[in-house]
Amino acid sequence: MTPGPHERTHHGPVVHDWAVVPLPGTDFDPVPHRLLHEEPVARVRLPHGEGHAWLVTRYEDVKLISADPRMSRALTVGRPLPSTTPHTLAPAGGVGRADPPEHTRLRRLIAPTFGRRRIAALREHTERRAQAFLLDLVETGPPTDIAESFIGPLSAAVVAELLGVPAADLDRVQTWRAGLLSHDTTADAGEAVKREIAGYFADLARHRADRPADDLISELAAARAAGELSGPELVSMAVMLTLNGLDAVRNIVATMVYVLLTHPDQTAKLRAEPGRLPRAVDELLRYIPQRNGVGMPRIATADIEVGGVTVRAGETVHVFYPAANRDPAVFTDPDRLDLARDGAPHLAFGHGAHYCAGARLARMEAEIMLGALLRRLPGLALAIPPERIAWRTGTVNRGPDTLPVTW
Ligand code: HEM
Repeated sequence: MTPGPHERTHHGPVVHDWAVVPLPGTDFDPVPHRLLHEEPVARVRLPHGEGHAWLVTRYEDVKLISADPRMSRALTVGRPLPSTTPHTLAPAGGVGRADPPEHTRLRRLIAPTFGRRRIAALREHTERRAQAFLLDLVETGPPTDIAESFIGPLSAAVVAELLGVPAADLDRVQTWRAGLLSHDTTADAGEAVKREIAGYFADLARHRADRPADDLISELAAARAAGELSGPELVSMAVMLTLNGLDAVRNIVATMVYVLLTHPDQTAKLRAEPGRLPRAVDELLRYIPQRNGVGMPRIATADIEVGGVTVRAGETVHVFYPAANRDPAVFTDPDRLDLARDGAPHLAFGHGAHYCAGARLARMEAEIMLGALLRRLPGLALAIPPERIAWRTGTVNRGPDTLPVTW
């Protein structure tokens, strides 16, 4: 592989240009892949923002950076740091961009909603919903775009209910989501969408403060009344959870279905032994590069040694979880899908204090959707050749635009 355009800075290594071009299917971005093998702590320039950042790709190094309390998210607020998108995705005041003690307080407020007990209770309900969706599909008959007829609407319904977003508002919220999660949205347009969505959730929270229901927005409104979080924090939390809940699961589960249908031998074994599904879901999470480019960076508050490099206080660091999941030091034959793989945990949900708040929910949804599809539609297959599937371009999360299937 040829190195991209690069230059030497006054004080150190080469700066690599990471253009972050959209890729089809599960193709792994060649830039972080090469860096993982050749320069696991490298300086990169990204399509947006100013200057360069460190990019950390090896499993142990990614864990070290993401668990180090000397790496700050709060310091990233309001700075034009190297980024994949022209506007900053995560709202200031949100969990993604807070440090302790604010971060700890915010995570505690949502922990019960995404905890073991509530998700277990939601499981049965989600299972019934999945069955109802599939009954409709079977009645209508193939082919169908399974991403839009099953995975998208089911995951949207689950998160909307958990949060307390009325079903009638989902279309509007989906439009804001598309605007925020597009690489083509300019900084100004991004701010305008953020204002709209913030206004929506502020209104909804006011409404629930007066008339509480059994949902997260009502709980957050009560916490706000008790002085446990501010108005802007409440809104940021709702926005962050909605965006993740609506987009991440739809895209990754649709990609999981694509991977299963393009690996028929392994999928046949999984069908024969459904008890292996949880492990298979984890392998799919490890294997699928779920996003274009990197998410939110961290800023070092002290000099930190990582992978033989000294990151200086004040410097920006990005970790790339999908690369860590392909680290040959941790995973044997890492670029190969092996649904029976057992071993080190993947980092698809991140690591450390910012570990995905919705991981348990996302896993549960993936298991239910894949399990239901494998069980109810034994003849499930792609309705068009895999190379003709259109993949989303210019978006943060990777996934198929449409996934036509038949059975
Ligand atoms: C399979 C789907 C999903 C994947 C792969 C995923 C992955 C991730 C990753 C990599 C992070 C960032 C870790 C970091 O900042 O270092 C994250 C954070 C987060 N995710 Fe997820 N996520 C998924 C689904 C969800 C869902 C369904 C929700 C909630 C409805 C959710 C809520 C969050 C929140 C709130 C954070 C920020 C946590 C914090 O900064 O403390 N995610 N997720």
